Amino acid sequence: MKHLLSIEDLGRGGIEEVLRLTDKFVEVSERAIPKVPALRGKTVVSLFYEDSTRTRLSFETAAKRLSADTMTFSVSSSSVNKGESLRDTVETIEAMGIDAVVVRHRSAGVPWRIAEWIDASVINGGDGWHQHPTQALLDCYTIRSRFAAARDPGGGPAFGGLRIAIVGDIKHSRVARSDVQAFAALGAEVVLVAPPTLLPPSLEGWPVTVAPDLDEVLGSLDVVYLLRLQRERMTEALIPSLREYRTRYGLTAGRVGRLRSDALVMHPGPMNRGVEIDAEVADDPRSVITAQVSNGVAVRMAVLFLLLGSGSEIVSTPLDRPVPVAVGDLA
Ligand code: NCD
Repeated sequence: MKHLLSIEDLGRGGIEEVLRLTDKFVEVSERAIPKVPALRGKTVVSLFYEDSTRTRLSFETAAKRLSADTMTFSVSSSSVNKGESLRDTVETIEAMGIDAVVVRHRSAGVPWRIAEWIDASVINGGDGWHQHPTQALLDCYTIRSRFAAARDPGGGPAFGGLRIAIVGDIKHSRVARSDVQAFAALGAEVVLVAPPTLLPPSLEGWPVTVAPDLDEVLGSLDVVYLLRLQRERMTEALIPSLREYRTRYGLTAGRVGRLRSDALVMHPGPMNRGVEIDAEVADDPRSVITAQVSNGVAVRMAVLFLLLGSGSEIVSTPLDRPVPVAVGDLA
């Protein structure tokens, strides 16, 4: 595998391979010094044309824990503001000698174009409304570590029998598109819960059912996955008001009481507390939102290792033994 552009590229086998490898990197992340030399000498660039907190920091942390060098491209302080094209920017960065680019862009398809232009590996960090494959992988890993591993003594991702609802702004969500493909590929049943205005115009080919009413499905769910209302992508008024939205589709403190005690509450972040999720619900014991973030680093280590680490040792050389340094050595 050279690039990671969409969940479809991976299929069930590829998803399972990433999840298995992630176990090893979770173990690395728990060490006193969470770092291995696997990607020493490799350079990973984050090329983010859209805002991001967790995805960019997560990829950069993952690359550093694998001992790769990292470069960060920030649009607001780059020559993009002097009119440089995407292709010229990407080719300029590649000429510096890089091994992988993590791309986020507001237009769907940009990572595919970049993969045609350069030799380095391309990882899709989110393209428009289209795909966000590493988010889906970290979501699968989080669900698997809470449920499926317990059900399947072999540790495989036995998602069969899990009922997962994705709630909210599905229309504008690349997370929903990647998650639906990944959850369904692993065998889960996926239910979409949203007002009709926040569903895509056609769901043909989506392996899902639709439930208009959150209260109807709540008690039957293993996972409730909430999405942010992506107002920056809305060109028209699609909901009457935020209050009305919260009343009908928000995971309020009242609603969360009707969830099963072992159900999971998930959200990709950034959250709008008080809109799709009540402030106290985000901190409920059933919420695994911070576990999603921690797992994200290990999942991205697994992805970077799969793309760039051929031939290198994974984790056989722990760096967590303190090396004694004499004061004189530092002089
Ligand atoms: C999401 C994104 O940017 O696609 N966040 C993320 O990557 N964790 C979801 C969002 O913006 O609502």
